[in-house]
Amino acid sequence: MELFEAIYTQRAMRRLKPDPVPDELIWQIIDAAIHAPNGGNLQPWNFLVIKDYATKLQLQEYYIDGLNSVTRPNQQLASNAPRTPEEMERAKQSPARYLADHLAEVPVLILCSVRLEDVASTTPPGACIFPAVQNLMLAARALGLGTVLTTVIRHREADVRKFLGIPDGVWIGTLIPVGWPVGKFGPNVRKPAEQVTFLDRWGQGMPRDAGAPAKNRELAGAGRR
Ligand SMILES: Cc1cc2nc3c(=O)[nH]c(=O)nc-3n(C[C@H](O)[C@H](O)[C@H](O)COP(=O)(O)O)c2cc1C
Repeated sequence: MELFEAIYTQRAMRRLKPDPVPDELIWQIIDAAIHAPNGGNLQPWNFLVIKDYATKLQLQEYYIDGLNSVTRPNQQLASNAPRTPEEMERAKQSPARYLADHLAEVPVLILCSVRLEDVASTTPPGACIFPAVQNLMLAARALGLGTVLTTVIRHREADVRKFLGIPDGVWIGTLIPVGWPVGKFGPNVRKPAEQVTFLDRWGQGMPRDAGAPAKNRELAGAGRR
């Protein structure tokens, strides 16, 4: 698959089939992950691959708890919280809820983490893992595997750490469900780049024609709101 096609069609795939994913493909996406940029080339990442059903079931409990905690106290989300019974029903059927309710059935979960002893004090831990995570997700996309970057499990970080035997000094970044998607990939929908790009001074627009080759503009256009 062409790189730009993978970028423009990689989106959060939360409905994943329980069908197994060969280890060879899991190695392939982790091999892609470990080629990412990282501070001082100390490669402070670890990838914990979880396939055991009972383990996934326990993580599902933490995940559901995390998801519930995100939607309640957060003011912004609360103001959008469903009110009518129909809205409540829709929320129950949302892709995020679906993933939470079926997490244990996802064939592979990959917990991506950072060894803090190998991270410079000025570097946020996320900066050391998310480039690798993006590589992993793009490689999965190229192989036809669905993924979604998730963080809600961090709400139960202490429990996750204890349950999986993750030592102190290791920062838990994200849990990536990996599986064959039920639905179709992208195009993912984003605001146009012009809305978020400035030239020389904050707030000063950058003319579009100074940008990417025509083909990329075309692909980007497919994903616009
Ligand atoms: C830092 C971060 C945290 C996220 N956490 C979650 C999560 O916990 N659960 C989830 O279902 N999606 C999560 N997502 C996925 C986003 O919801 C998704 O990338 C965004 O809505 C765009 O979706 P799209 O790529 O399908 O257009 C997260 C994404 C990022 C970058």
